[in-house]
Amino acid sequence: MTSQVRGAQLARLLGQWHALPGRRRSPDYAALAGAVRGLLADGRLPLGVRLPAERELAEALKISRTTVTAAYRELRESGHLASRRGAGSWTMLPGTHRVASTGLWTPLDDRDMIDLGVAALAAPPELLPAARAAAEDLPRYLGGAGYHPTGIIELREAVARAYTERGLPTSPDQIMVTNGTQHALDLVLRLSLAPGGNVLVEAPSYPNALAALAARRARITTHGLAVDEPGWDADLLLGSLRQARPKLAYLIPDFQNPTGHLMPASLRERVVGTAHAVGTDLVVDESFVDLPLDGTVLPPPTASFDRHSRVVTIGGMSKPFWGGLRIGWVRASAPQVQRLAATRVGVDMASPVLDQLVAVHLLADAPAIVAARRAQLTAQRDALLAALAQRLPEWRVTVPHGGVTLWAELDGPISSALARASEEVGVRLAPGPRFGLDGTLERFLRLPFTLPAADLVEAVGRIAAVRYDLDRGGRPQWREPAVIA
Ligand SMILES: Cc1ncc(COP(=O)(O)O)c(C=O)c1O
Repeated sequence: MTSQVRGAQLARLLGQWHALPGRRRSPDYAALAGAVRGLLADGRLPLGVRLPAERELAEALKISRTTVTAAYRELRESGHLASRRGAGSWTMLPGTHRVASTGLWTPLDDRDMIDLGVAALAAPPELLPAARAAAEDLPRYLGGAGYHPTGIIELREAVARAYTERGLPTSPDQIMVTNGTQHALDLVLRLSLAPGGNVLVEAPSYPNALAALAARRARITTHGLAVDEPGWDADLLLGSLRQARPKLAYLIPDFQNPTGHLMPASLRERVVGTAHAVGTDLVVDESFVDLPLDGTVLPPPTASFDRHSRVVTIGGMSKPFWGGLRIGWVRASAPQVQRLAATRVGVDMASPVLDQLVAVHLLADAPAIVAARRAQLTAQRDALLAALAQRLPEWRVTVPHGGVTLWAELDGPISSALARASEEVGVRLAPGPRFGLDGTLERFLRLPFTLPAADLVEAVGRIAAVRYDLDRGGRPQWREPAVIA
């Protein structure tokens, strides 16, 4: 983690910090303090970093030092900054905040908030019966110590069978069960990426994957996705692989988070071939593979083009079933699975047996459960799209044919300002820059359709109300080329 943020860096992160609702237009110092709080809340400004000296920030933002002094004072008073004379000021959070499942900081009493920061469904009704059936099964395991570093055999068999049915022959010894897909990614990175290793990721990409890469101190090269389908520019992507020759590439080809794009079969094949040619390992995140909508036919799994154990696939139960189960997995070669298991023993030993048994029961019922999830997601997506078309017609959206999120191109670089303003009217948003690395993507917003339709419609109404309240001063470069850098 960075221990100090320089004036120019903070100015870049702050972006359009003064773009706050016109009706409640606050003095500059309060707007600046609010913008810093926003960065802390959405994780772009870590806790415990030293902020620039007042004079340095004033110069970087081209504002008076008194404004910065007053902003820092306000941040100290609200509990977001600690200062020691002569030593500087560090970011912190008031004791009344907690970390949410998205990694975003939220106030403790946010029960009435419509949370569009989380892209995950509530549990299906089948979960409770599956948990009861799992408890019945448990005695079969109680005679042993209960540590299964690669997972219990019946779950590995069920996961392997599902891959085989998708056209990717897989044996149980190619599967390692993990505590969620995020854990799977972390273990794969621990095993295959030395600190400082070079990694290629899509931009935008899944923020917690970027956090896992940051924890490995990865040097990251990005591949910008277009807003329009298919998203990936084949020549650019293959060119980046050839040029950067990264140690590893992390891709989400199946209903990418956040854009919802689906990578065509031909590109999957070429990516795998090029990765092999340049010595890059591919980590393919299939979190959303079970959730095609509108009768979309899935291309073959990316790993089905792999002849050289270049592709490690990660996936899990969180999106089609329930995140609270914390069950994910890695599909790799059998020797890689053994190496991962050895790595894992030094981390968390094994996944809980009972939770794995619940997963076995849910997977046995997967066709019915997943069909219901898709119907639910289709209806919710359509409600969200209709509300956006009606209330925010200037926003540009590509209809996602799977997954749980859509990526909207806004009518200006206002994503963070909109997130801050929406929070005040009870809607939590994860602004575009959360999905990138360098404070860009301010013209984009991820909107999940995992909440009930009525909540989504209500949220869009509130967002539209605050959007029209935003300072319209700064809408310069909108409708530039659709490539996200
Ligand atoms: C692309 C992607 N990978 C991984 C995860 C984390 O999944 P899990 O809850 O299984 O750890 C998510 C959750 O949003 C995701 O979108």
